[in-house]
Amino acid sequence: MRILVTGGSGYIGSHTTVQLVAAGHEVVIADDFSRSKRAVLGRLEELCGAPVACRVVDLTDREATRELFEQESFEAVMHFAGLKAVGESVALPLEYYTNNLGLTLSVLDAMRATGVKKFVFSSSATVYGEHASVPMREDMPTSATNPYGWTKVMQEQMLRDLATAAPDMRVALLRYFNPVGAHPSGLIGEDPHGVPNNLMPLLAQIAVGQRNRLNLFGRDYPTPDGTARRDYLHVEDLAAGHVAALDALSSREEAVSTWNLGTGTPTSVLELVAAFAEASGRVIPTVDSARRAGDIAESYADPTKAQTELGWKATRTIQDMCADTWRWQSSNPTGYPDA
Ligand code: UFG
Repeated sequence: MRILVTGGSGYIGSHTTVQLVAAGHEVVIADDFSRSKRAVLGRLEELCGAPVACRVVDLTDREATRELFEQESFEAVMHFAGLKAVGESVALPLEYYTNNLGLTLSVLDAMRATGVKKFVFSSSATVYGEHASVPMREDMPTSATNPYGWTKVMQEQMLRDLATAAPDMRVALLRYFNPVGAHPSGLIGEDPHGVPNNLMPLLAQIAVGQRNRLNLFGRDYPTPDGTARRDYLHVEDLAAGHVAALDALSSREEAVSTWNLGTGTPTSVLELVAAFAEASGRVIPTVDSARRAGDIAESYADPTKAQTELGWKATRTIQDMCADTWRWQSSNPTGYPDA
């Protein structure tokens, strides 16, 4: 298929692009590089064995987006583009709603105008909200605790409403748990914009000597070691989940399908710190800190539905995730070069 990958130069979009090309699909990336570097494209070319087409476009611009769809001929869209920093979204709610909802509306408008029916959406386990029980299942109610999370809840709802009006659409809502790791080549990986918010890139930057220590946000959670537990998922497994979801869409009866992409196994903050220290051979100094506002004790998937319906299962271990993150970070200590 000829696929538009929005945000294809970002962390998850870039890893998925490599797997889409390997599966025989033709990819066109659309990105404005506001949170990513152009150097990603050279790395993708190296991994894919040929250049990957890229259109520099602001997808919140409806005219420009329509033009892109009219010039190219897409059979499916994978929609990764969007702002994703929880803390920033609390400080800048209007920017988050304008950008994340605007992007999706503009892309869906262009899809409707040009008859593109397949849409794979980057949703998040954040839509299970604050009070969900674990493991989280796709049929649980959704809510959010911050503007970023609400943009995901709202985009899911927009897509369900659209599919009601256009039942020939085939939409996949992929609810990611905690994506970490990097391509095993070390050529592409996570290169956070500014100070990282997430645990794994912080561990990687501490190990490589760019930061001094990790704040352990909360030691008093009702978990075995008192630190919060998450469902860390290798980005290569996550990328494979996208390819599987796209393949499955054509034969789905429902217009909208929701799938958790996670391992189903929780890992605590302290366990991940220990695994990363082991993989990197570096000491990770930690300091006990208060809980971070909005954090929940435990978040992990029930991944049964994706396993049954997509034949997809995460196979990489926490050790793989740490080793691959470390290979990426140690060979690119300051991320991608500015180019
Ligand atoms: N943590 C620390 N110290 C830090 C950073 C994080 O102890 O400096 C802890 C957090 O408190 C949490 C765990 O590490 O217990 C994981 O934190 P992340 O920020 O890496 O991940 P979250 O689970 O908080 O957030 C992720 C995504 C969000 C998404 C959310 C729910 O980053 O986009 O999962 O799905 F909304």
